[in-house]
Amino acid sequence: MYGLIHKAARSAVINISDKNSWDDILSDAGQSEVVLSADYYDDEVTMRLVDAVATKFGKSRDEVLKIVGEHWVEFTVSEGYNSIFTHAGDTLEKFLINLDRMHNSLTVTLPNAVMPSFQLIKSTNEGFELIYRSQRTGFATFVEGILMGLCEYYNTPMHIIFEDDKDGIRFSLKHRQSLTSISENSTDGKYKLSGDFVLKGSILNPPMTMSKTA
Ligand code: HEM
Repeated sequence: MYGLIHKAARSAVINISDKNSWDDILSDAGQSEVVLSADYYDDEVTMRLVDAVATKFGKSRDEVLKIVGEHWVEFTVSEGYNSIFTHAGDTLEKFLINLDRMHNSLTVTLPNAVMPSFQLIKSTNEGFELIYRSQRTGFATFVEGILMGLCEYYNTPMHIIFEDDKDGIRFSLKHRQSLTSISENSTDGKYKLSGDFVLKGSILNPPMTMSKTA
């Protein structure tokens, strides 16, 4: 994958911890800062980095992908992709409808990208159903995290679940009454990982940082 995802992982790690931790992770993964360039890297390099982050913080690969995913919107905005969010839709629904077009437009500058595909198959007063398809496997929790970040960005609190479907992976997003209804220990909405790390702030109320809970 392009080095952009490695930069996002670096940014999330520095939020959780510090630059020294990131340096350790790079070294554990047998990589250097080179992986942060705008070049294209084998997916194996990306997964080695993700696994090194997981080992460092005692988390699973899926948990790390979810954290990096939730950081993705804020990260890409800070990297200068903010116009994508303003152009791709002023509501979560419009943005979801335009996701494929948005990803495809990026392949002009990122020609080697193997982009995923998203199809909004249902939209009701209760929420949305979205089918995610990819040539890769193992990125469902990354999508879950990004969707959580998008919900915050569009100030649209939703409960998100996903399951395998014959057509791909089916994401179900259901409206919440209000953000305040999210329970303390919920693993969706405001993200919380087994009591170890809690995501503070939001895209609407930056800075978003992760810190250890007691
Ligand atoms: C400004 C916003 C975004 C940018 C700049 C962006 C860019 C990219 C890039 C460069 C890749 C790597 C492809 C490759 O190297 O082969 C990628 C992959 C991916 N993107 Fe996006 N993306 C954005 C938003 C989103 C959103 C909103 C979602 C989902 C809701 C999403 C889901 C994914 C997933 C799941 C992959 C990874 C792998 C796969 O499934 O094959 N992205 N994106």
